[in-house]
Amino acid sequence: MSDACPTITRNGDEVVILDQTCLPWTERFVRLDTLTDAAVAIRDMQVRGAPLIGATAAFGVALALKTEASDAALAHADTVLRATRPTAVNLHWALDRMQDALAPLPALERPAAAWAAAEAIRAGDAAANAAIGEHGKAILESLAQAKGRPLQLMTHCNAGWLATCGHGTALAPIYAAHAAGIPLHVYVSETRPRNQGLLTAWELARAGVPHTLIADNAAGWLLAEGRVDLVITGADRIAANGDSANKVGTYLKALAARAHGVPFYIAAPRSTIDFACPNGRAIPIEERSADEVRLIHGLDEQGGAACLRIASDTTAACNPAFDVTPAGLLAGIICEFGVFAADALAAIEHR
Ligand code: MRU
Repeated sequence: MSDACPTITRNGDEVVILDQTCLPWTERFVRLDTLTDAAVAIRDMQVRGAPLIGATAAFGVALALKTEASDAALAHADTVLRATRPTAVNLHWALDRMQDALAPLPALERPAAAWAAAEAIRAGDAAANAAIGEHGKAILESLAQAKGRPLQLMTHCNAGWLATCGHGTALAPIYAAHAAGIPLHVYVSETRPRNQGLLTAWELARAGVPHTLIADNAAGWLLAEGRVDLVITGADRIAANGDSANKVGTYLKALAARAHGVPFYIAAPRSTIDFACPNGRAIPIEERSADEVRLIHGLDEQGGAACLRIASDTTAACNPAFDVTPAGLLAGIICEFGVFAADALAAIEHR
């Protein structure tokens, strides 16, 4: 899923997104016409996944400048979009790129330049993820040779093409290995509370990649039983020292993987590395609504969309959306420039 990746596309002076709040049940495309539309789509997670959040913010700037492209309008769009979600640094990376491209230009030239810059971010993300796929495939290829049997992989959340502008990050090596004929199977954890693992299962099913959905709490046991050869996830922000924030639950998998000698990799583009952030303690962790814990969404017996309350609204619930996996637990970070030890990211700071 690359050239025609439908997560975000431009249609004239509008943007069309695949509304991920309706997946995996319904494929619904939504038009974004204004800055507010783009900000709401990010905040309400109609688009999600660090690279896609960044690309949507870039297109959000282009939407904002349709009506007015003054310095004030550019600054306003930047402020509104930066405030949507705090953890994925790709948002800030993309908005920095938009500012660099647009601020020096006269207002008259900004609208066209904004579309071009947003399109470049989108294309650049797809290309970076394709390269991640190739670097990661090499790891899977040598592991498959060593094992001499189908590989058993595990992932968490959704870091596939849905979360990006093409290919995905953690799923890119899996897609590349599958396409190369390397036999593999993926354990997909459901990823409570928002169940992004269901999006991963949906993607893998469409691509014909063998997979099994598991409850989040099953991961430790499967790792202990020797039923997993390698764990791979994406990231939302990687600090300069390699500490990596990703969807909550990632840290527990990394701990269990280390305890049982299973390599744990992060796959993420350079745009996810925040060299201004010294370590994981400095990464802002999004706290989302307690109702995401108290409610679950699915289909009712008639196949209609349904929301079910599993805890009363007086039950205290806390909902940190991300956690931080210390660099020391990572076997490596796969980015578009290759595979790096988590403590060796300085090599790509200026790329
Ligand atoms: O809250 P989400 O769904 O935006 O979180 C997504 C993740 O944590 C992904 O694993 C991460 O962004 C990597 S996506 C390529």
